[in-house]
Amino acid sequence: MQAVLDYLKQNQKRFLAEFCEYLRFPSVSAQSQHTPDLLACAQWLAAHCQQIGLEAKIHSTNGHPIVTAKTPPVKSKTKRPHYMVYGHYDVQPPEPLDLWHSPPFEPRIVGRNLFARGSTDNKGQNFAHLKAVEAYLKTGTPLPCDLTFVLEGEEEVGSKSLDTFLKTHHKALACDAVVISDTGMPAANCPALTVGLRGIIAFEITLRGPARDLHSGIFGGAVDNPAMALAQLLAKVRDKNGRITVPGFYDGVTPLSKYEREQSKRYPMKDAALKKLVGAPELFGERGFSPTEQRSARPTFEINGLTSGYQGEGSKTIVPSWARAKITCRLVPDQSPARIREVVCGWLKKNCPPTVKLEINAGHGAEAYHVSPSGAEAQAALRALRQAFGREPIVMREGGSIPIVNQFKKILGADSLLLGIGLPDDNAHSPNEKFNLDCFEKGQLMSAYLWPELARD
Ligand code: BES
Ligand code: ZN
Repeated sequence: MQAVLDYLKQNQKRFLAEFCEYLRFPSVSAQSQHTPDLLACAQWLAAHCQQIGLEAKIHSTNGHPIVTAKTPPVKSKTKRPHYMVYGHYDVQPPEPLDLWHSPPFEPRIVGRNLFARGSTDNKGQNFAHLKAVEAYLKTGTPLPCDLTFVLEGEEEVGSKSLDTFLKTHHKALACDAVVISDTGMPAANCPALTVGLRGIIAFEITLRGPARDLHSGIFGGAVDNPAMALAQLLAKVRDKNGRITVPGFYDGVTPLSKYEREQSKRYPMKDAALKKLVGAPELFGERGFSPTEQRSARPTFEINGLTSGYQGEGSKTIVPSWARAKITCRLVPDQSPARIREVVCGWLKKNCPPTVKLEINAGHGAEAYHVSPSGAEAQAALRALRQAFGREPIVMREGGSIPIVNQFKKILGADSLLLGIGLPDDNAHSPNEKFNLDCFEKGQLMSAYLWPELARD
């Protein structure tokens, strides 16, 4: 193990240069003009895996390629444990570009932060695992388990191809657990094991009124305004206590256990710090729950985008012909996405006035995820976190979603160990995304300590 630790220490400078190469690919999965960049990024990644001693392959799909990379086979009389390391090389669109202090695909280091799109979500986090495994392979330190990296290019757009890939390759991918660093930790000195993720349903609603935009002086007052109707309909969804009013919305919600409520109190972020971080005038959330609980363990109804009428310069006097909202609901264990979609859409139909026509377009959906912190693998992960960070980790739930973890469980029967090394101020999905280089180094240590701990049981 000492050789692995020394190797990591001695090679940080080179790791950084390689990490910057990885970040220079604009691998934006949502935008078709970047399809060649995703392929180039996958090719670079596979070549890099090969170079560090893994057996890498690129699998083409109907969407973006999947890269797999295995540790070389080891002869053994007993069955060796097999773990998958999952990550994604695709990134969110960088727009709005004018808010970036430097171009999103030209990595820039300021102090201990590296700024680039995809740095924390998720290239830096999966690269930390690759570097730890490189240290084992290059120092000839035997790994106590077999590893398969699965790095996909469609996480930010729903992981469709990986879902199919898991079904066709379930034999080769059968594993004891999946290790994922694609979540967060509360602070650089506060390591965390995430045991819950929220699920999601996405949909779009359009209210259609007059056949075309109308002069609001000539017709306004006698024809319903779709933007106003949409605002009134959406306003009814939430009451002043932050509760969703749709009957049945909280069906299936498993209450937080006493242990979880205790743990959530350990989350080291005061309300004032959260307020400052998000830059809102005041915090707002469901009454009876702390902000930590509200953003990780409670379901929500969010408007992601709201469009209607004239958005250009100056004024225009119209009754717009239509209004649209892009909605997502974050779900918690054990809400059923299909059931929640049914109750929410049913309620919208029932409450929509006859003066406008409602259209609903269903989007993606996924269940929430929860795993016990008392299992042997979770305990091994906690030991690795302690060794790497020299601190007592916290056990927490997080509010984001990684839908594919449910498929790992359903198709491969494997639980996911969520060992995030992103920070709350990393600006994931926002302008000026960054990754903390202390987290990068500690993440490598965590991965190095993890394999012997996991294989011990
Ligand atoms: N890395 C995130 C998920 C995440 C972030 C989990 C923070 C926990 C804490 C991932 O890349 C992501 O953004 N997922 C999407 C999934 C959606 C498109 C279905 C999300 O949560 O919005
Ligand atoms: Zn993301």
